[in-house]
Amino acid sequence: MRALVLLFVLLVVPAAAGAQEGRASGPVIPKGKGTQCVAETDYMRRFHMIELTHQRDETVHRGIRTERYSLKECVECHASVGTDGTPISINAPGQFCASCHDYAAVTIDCFQCHASKPDGSDQAGLARSLAVAAGMETVR
Ligand code: HEC
Ligand code: HEC
Ligand code: HEC
Repeated sequence: MRALVLLFVLLVVPAAAGAQEGRASGPVIPKGKGTQCVAETDYMRRFHMIELTHQRDETVHRGIRTERYSLKECVECHASVGTDGTPISINAPGQFCASCHDYAAVTIDCFQCHASKPDGSDQAGLARSLAVAAGMETVR
């Protein structure tokens, strides 16, 4: 019996503690809207940066516009609204993009130009005017 208790303490308790720790130490990522992402969640977790860059190159260099990996769409589903109803930047501390990136020590400059809130309530105009200045027509 004593051996059994010891075995329990040695194996089960650390495992449970470890599981709890694992949950608490990862980033807390706000949930996206709707039922699914633009691709498998697990795929998005690992490869969103590649798809975003690809989409950007297709649009900016080749003039191809699709919505699947559009940054605007990410913001539509992944940006949160504060308790007072005002939109919060998707890249603010604790918000979707920053939640993981701060944890992984990644810095992105995307939202210096792209709107970080739905409906372009902040800097949407900048990306748009840059595009217009570059002679590209804008969508949306
Ligand atoms: C200096 C300003 C600037 C920065 C910084 C920037 N972009 Fe852009 N981006 C633009 C402009 C201008 C366009 C063209 C807009 C259009 O034609 O709709 C564009 C287009 C895109 C597109 C294609 C349009 C869409 O949403 O489908 C994607 C995707 C994109 N950028 C992603 C990114 C990502 C990811 C980053 C950060 C790593 C980034 N951009 C940083 C200015 C910028
Ligand atoms: C139609 C709404 C919608 C759009 C558009 C969307 N997502 Fe998602 N996304 C979701 C949902 C729902 C999930 C799964 C639930 C969750 O974990 O948030 C998810 C999950 C994710 C995850 C994994 C989150 C985690 O908890 O590990 C990443 C990363 C992600 N999305 C990035 C993006 C990017 C980048 C874009 C734009 C190219 C995008 N999403 C566009 C709804 C969306
Ligand atoms: C589930 C966690 C998670 C979420 C949520 C997330 N990212 Fe990331 N992102 C990462 C990780 C981890 C890396 C670094 C990957 C690497 O270095 O290989 C990264 C890298 C990137 C990069 C490349 C940065 C560089 O300089 O190499 C871009 C661009 C990017 N993410 C955009 C976004 C945007 C935009 C959002 C919000 C719409 C977002 N990510 C949300 C985890 C996440």
